[in-house]
Amino acid sequence: MPTALVTGASRGLGAVFADRLARRGIDLVLVARDRDGLERTAATVRGHGAVAEVLVADLADPDARASVELRLSDADRPVDMLVNNAGFEVSDEFVNSELRDLQTQIDTNITAVMSLTHSALPGMIARGSGSVINVASFAGYLPSPGSSYASTKAWVLAFTDTMAASLAGSGVGMIALCPGRMLTGKHKAPDSPSPLWLEPAAVVEQCLRDLERGRTLCTPGWIYRTVVGTLEMPRRSLRAAAKLAGRGRTQGRRPKAGTQHDTQSLTRSPSLNGAA
Ligand SMILES: NC(=O)c1ccc[n+]([C@@H]2O[C@H](COP(=O)([O-])OP(=O)(O)OC[C@H]3O[C@@H](n4cnc5c(N)ncnc54)[C@H](OP(=O)(O)O)[C@@H]3O)[C@@H](O)[C@H]2O)c1
Repeated sequence: MPTALVTGASRGLGAVFADRLARRGIDLVLVARDRDGLERTAATVRGHGAVAEVLVADLADPDARASVELRLSDADRPVDMLVNNAGFEVSDEFVNSELRDLQTQIDTNITAVMSLTHSALPGMIARGSGSVINVASFAGYLPSPGSSYASTKAWVLAFTDTMAASLAGSGVGMIALCPGRMLTGKHKAPDSPSPLWLEPAAVVEQCLRDLERGRTLCTPGWIYRTVVGTLEMPRRSLRAAAKLAGRGRTQGRRPKAGTQHDTQSLTRSPSLNGAA
């Protein structure tokens, strides 16, 4: 069975990712700080007949993060999908926030995404298959005043964009998930239904579908999709130009003959495409 490692799986969107992947017959490695929360998610995963491994780690701490990096680079227990979901927001105004908290926000939302991806990719590329989902946010597009959270998510969007281009032809897919407000429990639910509020299960399903289609950006919800689609228009032509310019540079480092370079091979596997 393929294996996915999900960060921030103790609650919220990460727990939903674990649930939806387990329903597809994917084994899970669940990462976060709260062991009880991880054990609750593990019980759900096992209820679907999948294997659940619990890995307690503070991703903002380099020593603790090293245990997750080691798990991702273990060639004897390959991880086929990495879901970089863990993240948090320092909601105070930048100038009123503690520098220590702002650094932890960068360590969790940016450094962990970079270092875990760095550990996971070599094995995936060697196997010619695998995928990485980076949870960004619609906030990453907004010059919103106040918190510096939005700038960390803008980095996740830019990182995924450039990495996805570098991975073209490797058989490894990468997608940025860019949700608006989700009812994951950390926000108070609105009094009446609103298209601005997204259901986490629908968000995860949309993301897995878009990954299967080879897309590199997933924006669930029609309002958010319309805004992002408009903002992304000029970038599409830039991407095409960068692709053309990069063609020459990538010649000579094409995949080895005989390696499987079937795009999204993991996400096209019968187990991932099963009923959810
Ligand atoms: N909810 C929204 O409206 C919304 C909108 C757009 C994007 N997002 C993004 O979606 C992702 C999930 O959000 P959510 O709503 O599910 O948030 P949540 O309910 O607060 O869950 C966050 C998860 O991240 C983990 N986490 C936080 N800091 C960590 C650390 N230092 N080390 C390890 N794990 C850590 C938490 O686990 P522990 O506390 O157990 O460590 C928890 O499992 C985040 O990246 C968030 O920025 C959320």
